[in-house]
Amino acid sequence: MILPVVLFFTLCAYLIYFYRKSHNYWKNRGLEYVKPTIPFGNFSNFYSKKEGFGETFAKIYGEIKSRGVRHGGGYYFWNPLYIPTDPVIIKDIFISSFEHFKNHGFYMVKEDPMTQHLFNLEDDKWRDVRAKLSHCFTSGKMRNMFNVMVEHTDVLKRVLKEELSDKSDVKIKKILVRYTTDVVSKCLMGVNTDTLINDKAEILWHGSEFFSKTWGYINNTIVLLIPRAILQKLNFRITPKETEVFFKDLFKNIKSYREKNNDTRNDLFDSVLKLSDPNYTSNLNDFNGKKGMEPLNFDITVAQCYGFFVAGFETSSTTITFALYELAKNMDKQDLLRQDINDTLKKYNNELTYDSVQNMEYLEMVLKETLRLYPAFPFIPRGCNKDYKVPGTDFVVKKGTGVILSGMGIQRDPEYWPNPEKFEPQRFSIQNRDKIVPYTYFPFGEGPRLCIAHRFGQLQTKVGILTLIKDYKITINEAMKPLKFGSYGIVLAPRDDIWLNFERIN
Ligand code: HEM
Repeated sequence: MILPVVLFFTLCAYLIYFYRKSHNYWKNRGLEYVKPTIPFGNFSNFYSKKEGFGETFAKIYGEIKSRGVRHGGGYYFWNPLYIPTDPVIIKDIFISSFEHFKNHGFYMVKEDPMTQHLFNLEDDKWRDVRAKLSHCFTSGKMRNMFNVMVEHTDVLKRVLKEELSDKSDVKIKKILVRYTTDVVSKCLMGVNTDTLINDKAEILWHGSEFFSKTWGYINNTIVLLIPRAILQKLNFRITPKETEVFFKDLFKNIKSYREKNNDTRNDLFDSVLKLSDPNYTSNLNDFNGKKGMEPLNFDITVAQCYGFFVAGFETSSTTITFALYELAKNMDKQDLLRQDINDTLKKYNNELTYDSVQNMEYLEMVLKETLRLYPAFPFIPRGCNKDYKVPGTDFVVKKGTGVILSGMGIQRDPEYWPNPEKFEPQRFSIQNRDKIVPYTYFPFGEGPRLCIAHRFGQLQTKVGILTLIKDYKITINEAMKPLKFGSYGIVLAPRDDIWLNFERIN
């Protein structure tokens, strides 16, 4: 009986010693830091479900900033995190010193093949794949994809009409996820997922499971805390096996259909497929300019499609949802937007074309302001892979330290954004744009790791917003609770449903 008690107290004593020692890291290094507590470090509010992950980072940013310093430290459990608040340092990390911060530092192992997508790929492999896929998202490609986005708005409107046949309020996020799932799948892989028509479609499960509460909560904690090498030995997976099998089957089916029908579309799927063909890659230059790039194996090839799918549907549907929510609260801005949409369409014979959307100036401002307040990725992680001397200081961030660039923190910082909580698209008018301090706004990231599909994401989001605002007056439904952020996944999301009323006006 005595032995277990002794063991228990010894373990507790060791843990307290270990935590105290770890939590002295920033103090010993002479950097301001936000005081951590045992066991969660600065994340007690996150683990007691009071706030979202990105929100916690924004608060740490705010506290460091309030001390009048340019950078500081925080703790995730016992792990130190470096958090700059000065846009000059942020710019340096994104751009000039990119070589020190090439990777996101997320969990990526070959035992869980679907983790090997572009967002997670590292070093030379990332550079090679990124360089070969960038052409999939040029402005020219956007014109073709635009037609697919518009085609799907017809179904979106039909589904919304059916939903509204016996009521006026809708949980809009759930419908928008289906819209962006269908658009992303069709544009990038050429498949009709038809989730707008069938809300029980299997792909929805595989997409939302990735973001779902329990998975996100538990897995994020494990992969952020335990070294990758240990998890790899334990064969730890964050992707459900069923999801891996589903995407592998989907990939094989698309591949065999295209081969049988000699169907070349020049989309993301074709580009990824080519990178798995040794005959093709042997004629490519690798990132060093050396002839002959190593072909991607089957797992990495499928992972690219999976990664683009996952990165593509949730970010945009969340952004459309937040935009509608703010427009419902700010009727004057909603009216201005509708006016902008209708006036611009008139100039284009009332046809919704790619050029007409590009010329909707207020729509652009609404999108930018929505992403300022609600950046879909509210913080951008970087792993420090080489000691880094912070410009203008003697401080060195050591190799292996996690770095967090808090978009949500700086984009709501009153020094750069007066009255930051207010939804004010005018901040991004042509006249005001030049006043924005560089690197205080980066919803798509910056530098070589900038969101590869930022044009696609913006276009898809704009098409979604304009479709609904053009035809409906949108107001907040009384069932809507005060907005709180979800405390599970990495993508910023509302914790509760966003309840909106839709009144047809066209
Ligand atoms: C409103 C929509 C979107 C937002 C706000 C957004 C934001 C971001 C951000 C912040 C990053 C990290 C950038 C960095 O580390 O500097 C990122 C990366 C990425 N995004 Fe997006 N994104 C959006 C839409 C999309 C869409 C539609 C797709 C796919 C079709 C996509 C695919 C990716 C991929 C593959 C990466 C990893 C790039 C790399 O590491 O090289 N995103 N995105």
